[in-house]
Amino acid sequence: MFVFSEHVNLKKERLMCGIVGYTGSREASPILIGGLRRLEYRGYDSAGLALLGEDGDMQVYKAVGKVANLEDLIKDKNLSSGTGIAHTRWATHGAPSTINSHPHQSQSGRFAIVHNGIIENYAVIRKRLMGMGYTFRSETDTEVLVQLLEYMVTNRGITDTVEAVRATLKEVIGAYAICILDRTRPGEIILAKQSSPLVVGVGEGNSEFFVGSDASPIVEYTKEVIYLEDAQIARIVPGQPISITTIENRCVQPHVQHLEMSIGSLEKGGYDHFMLKEIFEQPQVLRDCMRGRVLPSRHSIVLSALSSHSEVLTHAGRFIIISCGTSWHAGLIGKQLIENFCDTPVEVEYASEFRYRNPVIRKDDVVIAISQSGETADTLAAMQLAKEKGAFLFGIVNVIGSSIARTATTGIYTHVGPEVGVASTKAFTGQLTVLSMFALALGHLKGTITDGFYHEAVDELYHIPDKMEKVLEEDARIADMAKQFTYARNFLYLGRGYNYPLAMEGALKLKEISYIHAEGYPAAEMKHGPIALIDADMPVVFVATQRHIYDKAISNIQEVKSRKGKVYAIVFEGDENVSKVADFAIKVPVTSDFLSPIVSTVPLQLLAYHVAVNKGLNVDMPRNLAKSVTVE
Ligand code: AGP
Ligand code: GLU
Repeated sequence: MFVFSEHVNLKKERLMCGIVGYTGSREASPILIGGLRRLEYRGYDSAGLALLGEDGDMQVYKAVGKVANLEDLIKDKNLSSGTGIAHTRWATHGAPSTINSHPHQSQSGRFAIVHNGIIENYAVIRKRLMGMGYTFRSETDTEVLVQLLEYMVTNRGITDTVEAVRATLKEVIGAYAICILDRTRPGEIILAKQSSPLVVGVGEGNSEFFVGSDASPIVEYTKEVIYLEDAQIARIVPGQPISITTIENRCVQPHVQHLEMSIGSLEKGGYDHFMLKEIFEQPQVLRDCMRGRVLPSRHSIVLSALSSHSEVLTHAGRFIIISCGTSWHAGLIGKQLIENFCDTPVEVEYASEFRYRNPVIRKDDVVIAISQSGETADTLAAMQLAKEKGAFLFGIVNVIGSSIARTATTGIYTHVGPEVGVASTKAFTGQLTVLSMFALALGHLKGTITDGFYHEAVDELYHIPDKMEKVLEEDARIADMAKQFTYARNFLYLGRGYNYPLAMEGALKLKEISYIHAEGYPAAEMKHGPIALIDADMPVVFVATQRHIYDKAISNIQEVKSRKGKVYAIVFEGDENVSKVADFAIKVPVTSDFLSPIVSTVPLQLLAYHVAVNKGLNVDMPRNLAKSVTVE
């Protein structure tokens, strides 16, 4: 199971889970369940709800897995209540389980809470409360909030619940969107927000209120919404206007907005497809991925998995990377990163091949499994085979508590939030970011890279999201370029060095969503056969953002051009030579060779996206594909 300690440093983690609340004259439970369903796209591993009756009676129900499991759990219950809160969990502290699911109740059962985010200083607070006799049921950071609230009322004598919440939040460091029920205050919900999103829907004449992590569970009931701001605490009670104060107890005038967006577009954040949303959220989620880990002010990278297992990792005789599809392409780039920075040989294997061979595993081998879903059957089987043969297993996974995460001895979560689009985009750049962090930190630990190089690399890595934002500004030009390819039947993607695996990834993106055949090739391999394919009908995408073999790239492009091939190049800003010979050039900000795939992949993702949209295809759910291939 992965080490969770690195989360303690994470600040303002933007997590995807779902919060829903209701108070008013309607039956709360169907509104809560319907709202959770609306938020299912945000990803989750369990769900729960709490209902508060007029007599102060509180009922709490939780279920691991789909919202449907929660629905089954409550279907025969007599649930009559006009006030409730509900939650779909995206676990960060404590694996997915019923006991770790939200809502969490305080020791006396007076309070119930649902929370989206991470409480960084939860361990310290938990220890302090346990020292005062408080007992905890779950492994979560969230439970600390509701126990500390109880402490404020019971031990510190704060009688007003909103004031007790204020005192609680003043002691907390982290990200939260929370809803709280208090048995002594039927009909009331107390909310607070810091970094994680929280929206309040205002019913006619304040007769009822709706709460959501975004507006999608709300808009079918009311279009009048209030987006809570950071450091705000709100109190909603039917028949009274919402009251909002800051953590510092300053009154806030509610800003009610009239929402016009459809539910569908709300779930996609206003984008036409989840894939486009996930392409555009890469800068932000990579900042989340690096948060608390890449520390430019300290010129260092902090990875708890590395510090907890430094002996094994610094003495690894070989790394074997096992993965599939896009994660395999990330592995090929990881190979070059680790070999260049750690001076340790790396093999990269298709998990589906590795598992059926009789691979030789030596006792100082470290096997790295890379997987977005953490449930890919071939990768899981390959891990289990490696484990049987005595290998140390390291996971690079996005879904917390997934099978691959639980099978690994340790690892690093990519923390890019749920990836809904079947074609992997932000998970891929998240994997490259984690591999870069890992290779740099391990190389520095081993002394195979100089302090000077390490410090510069840390700083450059930290600023990569800013450079990705600049590339995303090229979207309109790339959409234009895509128009020329809508009816192409074959594509060739070429690259060298770190960009050779990237060429394959660009080809895979195009194949899986536009159904156009495409191949990624090492550029120098062209002359060994594939160049026979080149003619005016074969678009060639050339990723030319590697400086150390730049002039070779020009000769490769000229080889293609001399055979009437059309070349679309990805080049660094300031490039003159390749742009001159290519038919179309997309410029990306200059960065180091080893980080250029993170930046250069964005145009390839957008190109594939726009070609598929031009063809009117189902971008988020391409034919024949599944988001997670859990079958063999
Ligand atoms: C990538 O766009 C595809 N969806 C697919 O190749 C995917 O990368 C592969 O199935 C591996 O999935 P995983 O990362 O969840 O293990
Ligand atoms: N950190 C909390 C937990 O792990 C909340 C995670 C979420 O946002 O769903 O339970």
